[in-house]
Amino acid sequence: MPRKVDYGFRYEDDNYDVYEDYDYDYADDYDYEEEENGIAPVTKAKQEASRTGVWRCPICTYDNENSMSACDICGVLRNPLVKVNNKGDTAAVGGICKDSGASVMAMSLFASSPQHMAKMPILFEAQKSVSSTDDHLNFHKDGNFRGTFQEFNSAFSSQNHHKVNIAAFKFDAPSPDDLVSNGLRSVKSKSKDSRGRGTNFLVESELAANGLVSSSTSVTRERHNGVEENDSTSGSGNKPETFNTRMDTESLPSKSGKARSIIERKTESISQYIPEKWMTPNNKDDGLSQLNLAIVGHVDSGKSTLSGRMLHLLGRISQKEMHKYEKEAKQQGKGSFAFAWALDESAEERERGITMTVGVAFFTSRKYHVVLLDSPGHRDFVPNMISGATQADAAILVVDASMGSFEAGIDAIGGQTREHAQLIRSFGVDQIIIVVNKMDVVEYSKERFDVIKQKLGTFLRSCGFKDSSILWIPASAMENQNLVANPSEARLSWFKGPSLLDAIDSLQLPERDYSKPLLMPICDVIKSQSQGQVTACGKLESGAIRTGSKVLVMPSGITATARSLERDSQLCNIARAGDNVTVNLQGIEGNQVTAGGVICHPDYPVQVTNRLQLKILVLDISTPIVMGSQLEFHIHHAKEAARIVKILSLLDPKTGNTTKKSPRCLLAKQNAIVEVVLQGPVCVEEYSSCRALGRVFLRSSGRTIALGIVTQVIKREE
Ligand code: GTP
Ligand code: MG
Repeated sequence: MPRKVDYGFRYEDDNYDVYEDYDYDYADDYDYEEEENGIAPVTKAKQEASRTGVWRCPICTYDNENSMSACDICGVLRNPLVKVNNKGDTAAVGGICKDSGASVMAMSLFASSPQHMAKMPILFEAQKSVSSTDDHLNFHKDGNFRGTFQEFNSAFSSQNHHKVNIAAFKFDAPSPDDLVSNGLRSVKSKSKDSRGRGTNFLVESELAANGLVSSSTSVTRERHNGVEENDSTSGSGNKPETFNTRMDTESLPSKSGKARSIIERKTESISQYIPEKWMTPNNKDDGLSQLNLAIVGHVDSGKSTLSGRMLHLLGRISQKEMHKYEKEAKQQGKGSFAFAWALDESAEERERGITMTVGVAFFTSRKYHVVLLDSPGHRDFVPNMISGATQADAAILVVDASMGSFEAGIDAIGGQTREHAQLIRSFGVDQIIIVVNKMDVVEYSKERFDVIKQKLGTFLRSCGFKDSSILWIPASAMENQNLVANPSEARLSWFKGPSLLDAIDSLQLPERDYSKPLLMPICDVIKSQSQGQVTACGKLESGAIRTGSKVLVMPSGITATARSLERDSQLCNIARAGDNVTVNLQGIEGNQVTAGGVICHPDYPVQVTNRLQLKILVLDISTPIVMGSQLEFHIHHAKEAARIVKILSLLDPKTGNTTKKSPRCLLAKQNAIVEVVLQGPVCVEEYSSCRALGRVFLRSSGRTIALGIVTQVIKREE
């Protein structure tokens, strides 16, 4: 039976409150009134800034002359508000924005677009809260700022919905992997094994928040040895021999269930880490490998129906269960969703006919134990999709062949075929199967298939997928065509390629990181109160774990024991990098294990911080990213509210060289180095150390606006 993974991203959930701070009313498109006087304001602004007697705009940090009542660049009013004209929008604009050259921003940001200007003045109450690039992240205290940021956006947003012409987004450097493998360097370059030479910096156990411990500690940019609080006898912290990864019970004195903080940590090089013999696979005994396969695509393209049908055909759903789904679905007037019900288990999902949380199911092909991650396609649940599909080794992108449906999915605004493909690529996935589903609806037309292949193929290439890594499968999940066997339908006889199952078997496993210490981002936690059990689910990104292993659960900093392991719903003794498992933990409380946390080797804790330097690729946004922009930050299974506190430089997408220092804002397609501060701490590694823990996604207003990698983990801010 499939396991549902609820990452907690549901608008209805309390968890989503964290995003209430965001301005969900950002307009997608700017709208600027035509500039009337046509003066070239950029030049003018530059000249004025060089004079003395200036005030700094808290939004764009431009230094304005003291005589200006509003920012010459972005039109934000100076505080205290000078001269508000009540003659309506135009008059107000005329009184302040026009005279002050508010359209300069439009001009400077969108030089290629018609000249527009802000429609309304923007009130600004608390300049000091945002005037410094080193501001602390005070999301709640910064009400002033947030308010004005919303106003900033709405002032430049559309009422008439004129579109500013920004060239359609095309990936120049689509994947964080590409950014790195192309040799693009971060601003602060670090040598490969720099972890081993890091010096101490602060980490505080999350337990401090619970009042269990309170310690600020030295942390390095490396992963460190954990030392038990008040545990002067702990050998692992000080003795180099423990780096030989003794993860068995004897390796680290157990303080099961007892809160511990990470105090003074010795910096030890990960290069000294030597995996034990059992940690590397032995082909003779290990049988089939696991392949984590994400099913992604636009809403209603048939992902769950396809997944359910495959599970049924491969014997993972019995005939009896299938009859039950059919009967219940029919009773609710949703007969066509019978197969989808195998994955969409919650009452709400069934009632609404959409997937909301990722469904995890397993089947065995000739070559692999396949872990199927059935993602939601609805745009509201993209955060769940990110959290689930970030585990993918390869992906199936399901597109709906019906007229209009494929087009909706590929649409630049709100098309999830497009967004999911971009995201999947940025997860480092380079093998993708495109299932052109619902071919029955278009009479199995080869022409329609070819049109879709041509249009989507162009887009996928622009995302960085190579033609040789894309497999195209026309199919019908509903009529069982081309799924586990070649099609029986005569109208599909023109297709000579493999069935979907054969295509899955032709995928290659990515390289697994057995040589590094254990890292398992936690995607889900199951707590059984009656039995007092805590079970963490996730994919091992590096290292290995076996029954009896001592592990460190971050960010709580508690050591626990792996009591038992399950892979493919079956008990197993060992799990290694790449395996998607559930780990039954002993010696830890339920509230000390959280989705978004990481299970790691006790001697090599993952880093925890709330301040990061990122290299990002901005997607096809229409609202520029400015200093102070508030965003949703996603990293493996964690999400946090975040704020851009520095825009350090623009990069040449081809060479990675800095083309401009401290730009005022970021536009579509630009590559940049930025610094973000998060509302809460996350477990993170630099991308060069661990890709899976160093990939980030920035979202705003329900859309992914940038992809990035962590170039530097900066000392945590309190
Ligand atoms: P979300 O998870 O909400 O994004 O949807 P989904 O992609 O999982 O789609 P789902 O499987 O729920 O199917 C949506 C609708 O498409 C259902 O009514 C299915 O019966 C229908 N459907 C799925 N596959 C096919 C197909 O091959 N042919 C036809 N005609 N309908 C299909
Ligand atoms: Mg679904």
